[in-house]
Amino acid sequence: MTLRFALLGDPVRHSISPAMHRAAFEVLGLDAEYTARRTAPDEVGPIMQGADLAGGNVTLPHKLRAARALARPGAAVRATGACNCWWRRPDGELAGDNTDVGGLRLALSRFGFEPRGARVLLLGAGGAARAAVHALLEGGVSSVEILNRTPARAQALRDRALAHAAEADSAADTHRVAEGVRVVAAPHAGATYDLVLNSTSLGLASGDPLPLDLDRGAVRGRCGAAFDMVYAAGGTAWIRHARGLGIRAMGGLDMLVGQAALSLERWFPGRPAPFEAMREAAVAELASRPGPEPGDGSRPA
Ligand SMILES: NC(=O)c1ccc[n+]([C@@H]2O[C@H](COP(=O)([O-])OP(=O)(O)OC[C@H]3O[C@@H](n4cnc5c(N)ncnc54)[C@H](OP(=O)(O)O)[C@@H]3O)[C@@H](O)[C@H]2O)c1
Repeated sequence: MTLRFALLGDPVRHSISPAMHRAAFEVLGLDAEYTARRTAPDEVGPIMQGADLAGGNVTLPHKLRAARALARPGAAVRATGACNCWWRRPDGELAGDNTDVGGLRLALSRFGFEPRGARVLLLGAGGAARAAVHALLEGGVSSVEILNRTPARAQALRDRALAHAAEADSAADTHRVAEGVRVVAAPHAGATYDLVLNSTSLGLASGDPLPLDLDRGAVRGRCGAAFDMVYAAGGTAWIRHARGLGIRAMGGLDMLVGQAALSLERWFPGRPAPFEAMREAAVAELASRPGPEPGDGSRPA
């Protein structure tokens, strides 16, 4: 029997996830299919609970809603409040994970970035930033400064990390988060960042401003590396800007492939995902797409 998986989101028309997963199913000889479904908010729970899908992924704007639909949220879902991958267990219960966390970890490792002890400037405080804060803290960074257009959202992100550490009942973790995670209005004078990580959606639409000018103000000459969660064929404008300044930089494609590969391994335990075949499919699919339209501010997983 063909196992069916789906990506739930809105919009999903530009998604490259079906191409990645179909390539993986073919390499692994799995009788499975993967489709992208444009999904309204009130359809998310019923579709996940319906019997016709064995599992799937969730993208904007439904990751928080999907987390609430799970009977068995994994540790990364409990930490972030967001779910991007779910599956039906043999007992029928819905389980889920946030594989953006592992996807980012995997991409940073391929980038050669060692998080332990690193000082990070995180741009953005949305759903992707939740995954980033969790992955960075787990990786042992020494500090994360959160810079967001809406400071209250950055504060909420910090509060969430703090509450999660307190729930884990670890005084050491709580202290580490309280000391290490800060909300900033701008990079401050004298700061040096091992990594500046863009988790805003800036760069999706042509004509977007840069998420941060790395050649101005306190950050000038003080940024060791740049990682952009946004991805584009040939690199985003911000990645090109960073490289132009001689800063080592990586876009979000490996993170995207990483979260997909980890999703596949949740659905098919014991079957290592064919990362390179999935990456090749993603690159080919991305290259075949027209560039972003002005004002088209979203590209789903
Ligand atoms: N590579 C991957 O695998 C991967 C995985 C997940 C997400 N992503 C990408 O990460 C990006 C963010 O996703 P998300 O789920 O976090 O979205 P989200 O929850 O909607 O958050 C968007 C973030 O971007 C900021 N932002 C939006 N427009 C802005 C503007 N004009 N100026 C300054 N800041 C602006 C928002 O700031 P405010 O809070 O002020 O609105 C917020 O911090 C998307 O591009 C997504 O495709 C990539």
